[in-house]
Amino acid sequence: MAINPKKLKRIYAEVLSIIKPSAEETLRNIANSNVVIEKLKRLVPSNVELVMVGSLSRGTNLVGNSDIDIFLLFDSRISKKKMEDMAMRAAKGLVKGTNGKFEVKYAEHPYARVYLENFNMKVDVVPAYKIANIENLATSVDRTPLHSRFINAHLTEGQKDEVRILKYLLRVHGIYGAEVKTKGFSGYLCEILIQQFGSLVKLMEEFSTIQLPICLYPKDRTISKDDSIFRKFSSRFVVIDPVDPSRNAAAGVSEESVAKLALIARRFVEKQSIELFQGPKFSSARAGSALSSLLKTMGMDLYCVMLNVPDKSEDVIWPQLDKAAKIIEADAAKQGFPIYLSTSCISGGKGILTYIAPNVILKTRLIKGPDVFAGKKHAFSFFNAHPRAIGKLVIKTTTYVIDKNRYVNFEQMLRSLVNGTLLKKRKDITFVRGKLFHNKLPKNIEKNVYESIRVALEI
Ligand code: UTP
Ligand code: MN
Repeated sequence: MAINPKKLKRIYAEVLSIIKPSAEETLRNIANSNVVIEKLKRLVPSNVELVMVGSLSRGTNLVGNSDIDIFLLFDSRISKKKMEDMAMRAAKGLVKGTNGKFEVKYAEHPYARVYLENFNMKVDVVPAYKIANIENLATSVDRTPLHSRFINAHLTEGQKDEVRILKYLLRVHGIYGAEVKTKGFSGYLCEILIQQFGSLVKLMEEFSTIQLPICLYPKDRTISKDDSIFRKFSSRFVVIDPVDPSRNAAAGVSEESVAKLALIARRFVEKQSIELFQGPKFSSARAGSALSSLLKTMGMDLYCVMLNVPDKSEDVIWPQLDKAAKIIEADAAKQGFPIYLSTSCISGGKGILTYIAPNVILKTRLIKGPDVFAGKKHAFSFFNAHPRAIGKLVIKTTTYVIDKNRYVNFEQMLRSLVNGTLLKKRKDITFVRGKLFHNKLPKNIEKNVYESIRVALEI
């Protein structure tokens, strides 16, 4: 199947009519941003440079996303602490005497998030160092103004529109955004992928046949398969940041997201249809009954762990929830409990891990030991480590024992999680207690849980 350019043009036009901000919206956002910049200028020393960055400054933003990122660029001789204090004070000054809101947020580096009363928008005020050369990078955000400069210097208006289409397509399929929650493609990554391949069509063609590992160099639009790169970044999908060759701009992307994009790309190349931009269709009305009928059809049970997460900020909760989910999956596999589907979501201030799994009872478990010929002592030390084993056996040349399982079923394993034993040694997970629901869910989380399951079941 070849790409049909006429059809494609129609689809692009249709998608853009939905997602591209109107000229008025753009003018309004830029005007608002200028008002904020002017106000901030009066709140910082005159040698601090103020710039708008992010997708609005690059013409790659989607409709309705009126969030503004403003950077305060400081001279590199000033200390980090002083620069941060000044930025926080200036951001606070923006809302002084109004009903606006101010909060301090942390990425790798503190910044202020301000909600302005009369604008109905969110402004991130980020302190960074003014650097002319990437070698002088002192904080992770110092690159951002260079990103804006690179994109504006390299992408045409048409390509920027294609970035918008790409972002929207990825969002519809749940792989837009580098946060741990999504582990997908960031806005900047979308921009440099269009730069790498030249157009959305080319990008789709390349991704439809992509093989991992792969390293892309958007700066010179080349590709490398050199092993040392994948070792250096411990990743099989590397996109070298055009403004900083030491950084993988795709570090937040999971292989699962790359695989999903490959499937989307194959559909795109095979048949150009607006349906691809509409994504999976499901209704979350009557989530409760839909969920029970799904479980009945599958012949499976639903396990839902609701963890008491302490902090309200999702950037703190998600990485921990993600770690907890990985530990549970690894432990379940170790104990011999199969899991068919696992999803996570945050709902009502709780971290929720959901599992669809067969209700298997395993009082004992077959545990694999060393190969008899691996060494003279290994087999016996393995047997000695299982003194109460019900059986010791050899299958082919490998030793095994049949021993008591730590838990008789998955539910019991999850109980040890919610009563605090399973994760108690983990210093990096601050919430270890919670509630467990088996098949029957409380009404207030039904919809979110059902949604996370539907999304996971439909690529
Ligand atoms: P945003 O997350 O706001 O992305 O970060 P965006 O490009 O504006 O995309 P949308 O349209 O809002 O979704 C703003 C800029 O900050 C830098 C990037 O240059 C990004 O474009 N950034 C952000 C990073 O370098 N690393 C990050 O982890 C996040
Ligand atoms: Mn943005």
